[in-house]
Amino acid sequence: MNSLKAGILGATGAVGQKFIRLLENHPWFKITALGASGRSAGKPYRKAANWVEPVPLPESIAGLEVRECKTTNFDDVDFVFSGLDSSVAGKIEKEFAASGIPVISNAKNFRMHPDVPLLVPEVNPDHIDLIDRQEFSGDGGWIVTNPNCVVIPLVMSLSPLEKVYGVESVILTSMQAISGAGYPGVPSLDILGNVLPFIPGEEPKIESEPLKLLGTLEEGKVRDAGFSIRATATRVPVRNGHLLSVNASLTHKPSGLEEVIDLFENWQSPLAEHDLPSAPSRPLWMHKNNDHPQPLLHAEEEKAMRTSIGRVRVDDNGTVSFVAMAHNTVRGAAGGAILNAELLVAKGKLTPAAERSPG
Ligand SMILES: NC(=O)c1ccc[n+]([C@@H]2O[C@H](COP(=O)([O-])OP(=O)(O)OC[C@H]3O[C@@H](n4cnc5c(N)ncnc54)[C@H](OP(=O)(O)O)[C@@H]3O)[C@@H](O)[C@H]2O)c1
Repeated sequence: MNSLKAGILGATGAVGQKFIRLLENHPWFKITALGASGRSAGKPYRKAANWVEPVPLPESIAGLEVRECKTTNFDDVDFVFSGLDSSVAGKIEKEFAASGIPVISNAKNFRMHPDVPLLVPEVNPDHIDLIDRQEFSGDGGWIVTNPNCVVIPLVMSLSPLEKVYGVESVILTSMQAISGAGYPGVPSLDILGNVLPFIPGEEPKIESEPLKLLGTLEEGKVRDAGFSIRATATRVPVRNGHLLSVNASLTHKPSGLEEVIDLFENWQSPLAEHDLPSAPSRPLWMHKNNDHPQPLLHAEEEKAMRTSIGRVRVDDNGTVSFVAMAHNTVRGAAGGAILNAELLVAKGKLTPAAERSPG
């Protein structure tokens, strides 16, 4: 197929830079436009962005002029990825969708909107159909979102448990990497040799987004999963990889530890049939060593798109305890959004602009 032309909104930020790095040589998508604030607009990308990815800035991107995030400046794209700051993402993303430009977003603004898919392709691919209901979108435009970076490893591990046993309640503590705070992020004197026991705004997202993701699509609406989540979000001096300690009380008691380990080990990805370029071959990986998974050792596995599970235990009441970990800025942000875009292509929802009929 010919590459789809992708714009990036928020291209100068931490997530925007990750998009640029991950999309270099992508077989389906080619970056043709970059957007950011008025502070960056009009400058070549190399001058507008403080490039912090540990690879050279691609030459094809360095000279592109950054544009203001107005729809009229993006008439040469098939769709956009958004890594916009949430203070502006709501208004800008809605304008793009209304003008007929599909938006695949990392920002929180539309995640819980009833007509917007909050998508993790391995967990709730059927929720894509919500885009057909988006009344605020026009002329073939729509918005699809991916969840908070902690929520990825959480739903990847809860999804098999919910299907087989049912989940009653979840209590978890997240140990979140510094890169999740963007660049320059947390002051070094706050985080070096320290743990911060609170991340502003984080816990409500961790407690609400999984219920939509694990909900069922009924008559065009998502009925949220019916369990409660209590989260404590902490920041730890780790560069990449959010690790969670999770305790899940289940409706039906597993027969034993081996049964739960088998469930995680033999879980089959519903994406296998699609052969998506960014999909990991084993999206869920069960570690048997008691001291695994570790962010430093395992966050980059499978192009940093995998969820690792370990330390699985089952108590007499049927509560399952485990740790889960995923790369926060790849799988939890730009990489997750790119996988969403690939699934949308495979399902025939994301097509060249010229093929979309004005509605
Ligand atoms: N960091 C992560 O790991 C992570 C993970 C998941 C989700 N997210 C979400 O992804 C989004 C981006 O996060 P980030 O860490 O990349 O933030 P960031 O580094 O602060 O980047 C924000 C981007 O938004 C642009 N922007 C700011 N004000 C604007 C305006 N008025 N008009 C147009 N563009 C504007 C900035 O452009 P200028 O450079 O011109 O100011 C920059 O490109 C946020 O919504 C965040 O919550 C982040």
